[in-house]
Amino acid sequence: MKENRPSITAQHVAMRRAAHQLLDDPKVFDDPVAILIIGRESASALQADPGKFEAGLLSSYLRAFMAARSRYAEDELALGVHRGVRQYVILGAGLDTFAYRNPYPEGVLHVFEVDHPSTQAWKRARLEETGITLPNDLTFVPVDFETQTIEEGLKGAGYDHGKCTFFSWLGVTPYLMAEAVMATLRFIASAPLGSGVVFDYAISPSLMTPVQRSVFDRLAQRVASAGEPWQAFFDPLQLMEDLQAMGFGYGEDKGQEEINETYFKDRKDGLRVGSLSHVMIARV
Ligand SMILES: C[S@@+](CC[C@H](N)C(=O)[O-])C[C@H]1O[C@@H](n2cnc3c(N)ncnc32)[C@H](O)[C@@H]1O
Repeated sequence: MKENRPSITAQHVAMRRAAHQLLDDPKVFDDPVAILIIGRESASALQADPGKFEAGLLSSYLRAFMAARSRYAEDELALGVHRGVRQYVILGAGLDTFAYRNPYPEGVLHVFEVDHPSTQAWKRARLEETGITLPNDLTFVPVDFETQTIEEGLKGAGYDHGKCTFFSWLGVTPYLMAEAVMATLRFIASAPLGSGVVFDYAISPSLMTPVQRSVFDRLAQRVASAGEPWQAFFDPLQLMEDLQAMGFGYGEDKGQEEINETYFKDRKDGLRVGSLSHVMIARV
């Protein structure tokens, strides 16, 4: 990320989630705050002509994937709360809105939004502008994952590593160095039994078909020119082995087929995710 500037990709992703609310029926991810949080101007432009922002197959693949990964995270969180999860750490939260529509009674699930200080300051200003109320069950934790560990960041924020915790990490790992990703996963693996994480990741370019590679190159160029280049890539099988070695007791890698089968089956509009999509679910 560029110094002292909020993440541009966080705004892009939030626009796609908002567009999903307007364009897709049925919704895979129902988020009534998604349109509010993008800000009045963007919301009006999107509402006036949602299709303008979401033209073409690649846009629909990306919009479907943004919806699906958030849905995986919140479905897995709900299972976690059932198992005793009482803390939800959203890593690289961007304009994620869970905290502002937390369905659990106050005191059941505390949310920690961890993000780069510049993005977080921008989000807080956006929340104030749009009049979204800050819930009591929310703590903001500014952390730069490249220079600080999340452990350091969370330590002073009231987070209790002895409590069962669920982490989501959506749209962030590609922007970090692989070692920073692994260090964070090791920290999550050291949380109590019943804890877990959902994250998405980019597969290694060497594993891609030529068609995947050309789509990947286009997307990679786009994020790099926004000053947020992709840096970490993984081999799904190796990643699963690494997660097991860290101490995760259960892992499930969801690729294009599984994601489409779970959330996009039998749709009349043909909405689905593309073949670069990968979401990992891991439980301690
Ligand atoms: C593509 S956005 C995704 C945001 C959000 N998770 C979502 O799905 O809407 C990437 C997020 O990663 C965060 N990020 C990128 N590099 C970071 C770093 N070094 N430290 C902390 N956060 C970082 C950005 O601030 C941004 O919020």
